[in-house]
Amino acid sequence: MEPSEKYMIEYKGFYFARDTVIPEYLDSLEDFEIRDNDVFLVTYPKSGTMWSQQILSLIYHEGHRDGTENLTIMDRVPWLEHNIDNTDYVNRTSPRLFTTHLPYRLVPKGLRNGRTKVIYVARNPKDVCVSLYHYSKTSVLLEEVEDFNIFMERFLAGKVIGSSWLDHIEGWSAHRDDFNILFLTYEEMKKDVRNSILKICNFLGKRLTDKVIDDIVDKASMANMRVDPRTNPDIFVPTLFDLSKGSFLRKGTIGDWKDMMTVAQSERFDCVVKERMEKLPFKFCWDIKDDF
Ligand code: A3P
Repeated sequence: MEPSEKYMIEYKGFYFARDTVIPEYLDSLEDFEIRDNDVFLVTYPKSGTMWSQQILSLIYHEGHRDGTENLTIMDRVPWLEHNIDNTDYVNRTSPRLFTTHLPYRLVPKGLRNGRTKVIYVARNPKDVCVSLYHYSKTSVLLEEVEDFNIFMERFLAGKVIGSSWLDHIEGWSAHRDDFNILFLTYEEMKKDVRNSILKICNFLGKRLTDKVIDDIVDKASMANMRVDPRTNPDIFVPTLFDLSKGSFLRKGTIGDWKDMMTVAQSERFDCVVKERMEKLPFKFCWDIKDDF
């Protein structure tokens, strides 16, 4: 069963949710002017983007930490490509923080200046696939596919938003020397979020006190993000979800794929991704109990 064109649009070989992008605007991104002190968060969908947005937002904005400024993380670390409201990013004050799911080949060419900091967060693809399957049910922007087997085949064929997970991570990894980039994994964040925040701060040249780091750890927890209207999209953009079918902040764990995939599905998944994944310079973690 092919994906429905009602929900997805292909732009230069990359799939987006149809109602979230404007092709002419995407055309303009190649020449989008990059500043040295911009910070870009790059992820494949369902890899912990919003969690990382929250961490970045908390690192940079005291008003986000102490709750004195009532801006959502979407306003704080907006999507470069999903600018359907035509928000003025050009005149935004520095340092500008951006989020993107774009593959390396579609980001503004100025991002290859070797100075602007880019943070790529990767997650093991089985959990990504399962998370995207559930998200496709709750998000009104995506086609709901009831049969997980059909969904998984689409994922493996790259016929989902974000296109091929392998192409995305391989592309960014192979071109790492073109960018000033830090690679992190969802799993290392999950296992030791404090250390991951310190890594991010170190990369960004941010020196924060232990107390502030503790505060970031606390406010970036799943439990606190769930109840905060600035960080839970179920609350700040409820019209985008069918909340009877689930929540954006779902399980937030490592190895949830084991509850969904049959042994045969898992083996089929391995068969498609294993060879290319082994060539990637990252260590993936597939279960919460695994050492990392
Ligand atoms: P699950 O569906 O596996 O629970 P993204 O923001 O890239 O769309 O990723 C969403 C995934 O990140 C969801 O995974 C979500 O639950 C998880 N997530 C969001 N906030 C998190 C947090 N604070 N800690 C751990 N996982 C989080």
